[in-house]
Amino acid sequence: MIIESPATIRPKSDDLHSNSTKLIFKEERMKIIVAGTGYVGLVHAAVCSEYGHEVYAYDINKEKIQAYATGEATEIERYVNEPSLSSLIKEMHGKYLHFTDTIDEVIEGTDVIFFCLPTPPNEDGSSNLTYYDKAAEDIARKLARRKDKRRVVLVNKSTVPIGTSRHLETIMMLNNVENFGVSSNPEFLAEGTAVTQARKPDRVVVGCDREEDFKILRRVYSQFVNHVRIKYIQTTPETAEAIKYVANTMLLTYISFWNGVGARIGERIPNVNVDDLRRGVTADDRISTWGSYVSNGAGGSCFGKDIRSLIYQLRRVDVNTKMLESSYEVNEFQKVYLVDRAISEAGFSWSTKTVAVLGLSFKKNTNDMRDASSIRVIETLLGKGVNRIKAYDPLSNEEAKKVFTAENNILFSKIEYYESAEEALEGSDALFISTDWEEFRGLSGVISRMVKPPYLIVDGRRMIPDYQDLVERGYHYLAVGSPSLQPGT
Ligand code: UDX
Repeated sequence: MIIESPATIRPKSDDLHSNSTKLIFKEERMKIIVAGTGYVGLVHAAVCSEYGHEVYAYDINKEKIQAYATGEATEIERYVNEPSLSSLIKEMHGKYLHFTDTIDEVIEGTDVIFFCLPTPPNEDGSSNLTYYDKAAEDIARKLARRKDKRRVVLVNKSTVPIGTSRHLETIMMLNNVENFGVSSNPEFLAEGTAVTQARKPDRVVVGCDREEDFKILRRVYSQFVNHVRIKYIQTTPETAEAIKYVANTMLLTYISFWNGVGARIGERIPNVNVDDLRRGVTADDRISTWGSYVSNGAGGSCFGKDIRSLIYQLRRVDVNTKMLESSYEVNEFQKVYLVDRAISEAGFSWSTKTVAVLGLSFKKNTNDMRDASSIRVIETLLGKGVNRIKAYDPLSNEEAKKVFTAENNILFSKIEYYESAEEALEGSDALFISTDWEEFRGLSGVISRMVKPPYLIVDGRRMIPDYQDLVERGYHYLAVGSPSLQPGT
């Protein structure tokens, strides 16, 4: 059923849009289905409708569809919490954006179907295509029965193994679908800035086999074709699929380089300051600042999953994957090594201690807990005999409760959640900073007010610029990228 907005008002003309995204001319308007309304699908559907395309966001999860259709931020953010997304949905729903839990009513006359379906990792790192295949089969059966035989392009938008477009083509052919093309158009959005990036991407990568399909996709993205700043890249479906994996793997490898080399140099070689090292190296225009911030590991829904998947795909074609394995291993090691450094370098025993953990999400400005370093940190601390974890995150306490369940690990029942850093610090023996929330930069005053030395501060994000003052006041400071600083050093 298509769930319409209470007020269905179309813009009067093809004028400039309020968000200064130029509306397309109505002759260019396409009918688009976005299948799967998770993070990638929902952002894409909302932004495509903002261009002026007629977009049907489709998901088999009725509750989700109903929540989105309310246009209420609290309802939408139960599923996807992304700045300015809910207001955009509220504005576009009933104009060019529609939500539906069945595809039958909308399939006639569709020009493009974007596949934005989850492909979770299997144990061996390969991608699980169960949801994808099920949806593709279902859509194929419906496409085969359509009366309107206009050309339809089926586009993989979420990250899928190299060759999945070809696999999709086979599913369509086996179901006797006529007049279709397949394409890969990967998404490069980072959480927290997804709407802004979707409105003004750095590049649009489109992989197709035939010019007629490229042409349809150029109409979808007419705003970005021949743009002075946006690179519009047309290539084969397989190359487009590979671009996504290589980009994410490269980004993680770069972070792992800084964590595995830059941080170690700062920690082990006397008088090397890792922040100056970063500034000096990245002053070279060829070397990116992004990724050079040492941390207790990179998390999120993409990096770990994509590098493992690429390793799996390359091993199958006999490629030596040692370098990629190292990137992945460095990142996994980095998530927990500070717990051991506290023992070896600070002589700290975690056993029976109360530890405040500040920051639970995988990065600042999101409530996303997927592959967050805090999960491995807390598991490891509890494994070392910590008695009580006092956790605080500005946004993700509720999400964290879904991860740290007693069913997952009985020791997680030792976690308590607090509404502020002050409350979490009170009565603790040590602090572990796991996420780079800006508010943690001002922590030194709060620390000296709430806890007295001897006290261990473990900083996985180098968030305390005036750490030297704390050391002078008797606190023990141990940060990623620096040697352990004991009082009197
Ligand atoms: C990433 C890619 O950036 C994006 O292009 C892709 O589409 C999806 O994956 P995202 O998962 O939102 O996006 O996170 P990102 O901002 O890239 O950060 C990933 C992790 O790296 C976070 O845990 C972050 O804190 C960490 N990070 C980032 C560092 O540790 N150091 C840095 O300098 C930068």
